[in-house]
Amino acid sequence: MAAKIIDGKKIAELTRADIAARAAQLEAQSGVKPGLAVIIVGDNPASQVYVCNKKKACEQAGMYSVVIEMAGDTTQEALMEQIETLKADDKIHGILVQLPLPAHLDEDAVIAAIPPEKDVDAFHPVNTGKIMIGDYDFLPCTPAGVMKLLEHEGIEIAGKECVVVGRSNIVGKPQAMLLLHANGTVTVCHSKTKNLSDVTRRADILVVAIGKANFITGDMIKPGAVVIDVGMNRLENKKLCGDVEFASCSEVAGAITPVPGGVGPMTITMLLENTLTAAKKAIGKNL
Ligand code: GUN
Repeated sequence: MAAKIIDGKKIAELTRADIAARAAQLEAQSGVKPGLAVIIVGDNPASQVYVCNKKKACEQAGMYSVVIEMAGDTTQEALMEQIETLKADDKIHGILVQLPLPAHLDEDAVIAAIPPEKDVDAFHPVNTGKIMIGDYDFLPCTPAGVMKLLEHEGIEIAGKECVVVGRSNIVGKPQAMLLLHANGTVTVCHSKTKNLSDVTRRADILVVAIGKANFITGDMIKPGAVVIDVGMNRLENKKLCGDVEFASCSEVAGAITPVPGGVGPMTITMLLENTLTAAKKAIGKNL
């Protein structure tokens, strides 16, 4: 039987409408419009699309948004100065530096320079540490988007075998934490995992975030499993595809996210949620 397709686009729309309503309420009560600044360095075409989508989403949610474009040969000092300026700007509640940065820049130092209370990506060591102990100021955007999809679909996590394929700092590791905090039994797999398909076939909930097109095939999943595809790969023919081979997996899974239209729209939605949270916290502190 074919799997249920989890419509991330629709769920993102519903969630964004709710965020927009709460942003409008905040502005009516306090006069403060949540504001996000996105810095992009260089001209990576994929990054340009992501940044443009972030700006559009902010504006649609009634938030203030600025995009700061810096040349590909920007120095570390110039980037740090720009972050300092945004740090001091009361209209800006969230600062996001689009990754990856050009190779000559020190990504860790840049992330550490963003004040934790404006770190809407939740990449700063203070925020990643908080995620570890389940005390969230900011939600890690992509993993939180995955949790929202599961919640919206009424998928129980407690006691379930959850397998995360991929151990990146941005997705795999925080995803494992969020599933663990929801009482899942969590296994993290990576490039050195032995007998990967034996592990993936145990999963009631499988989250894949490795950046390898069509890597997970139907024979690697348990019948009826929930399969969440975080991958976003561009094939030679320019078509987008995930890390999960949709045709074979959707024959075996109970529910599955498509690419595009699955996890992707949820990531930006969670960024809006974090920007709203940052604005609320700033007001609380200033009052
Ligand atoms: N590049 C790809 N995904 C992300 C993200 O979630 N945040 C930032 N800052 N850069 C990214």
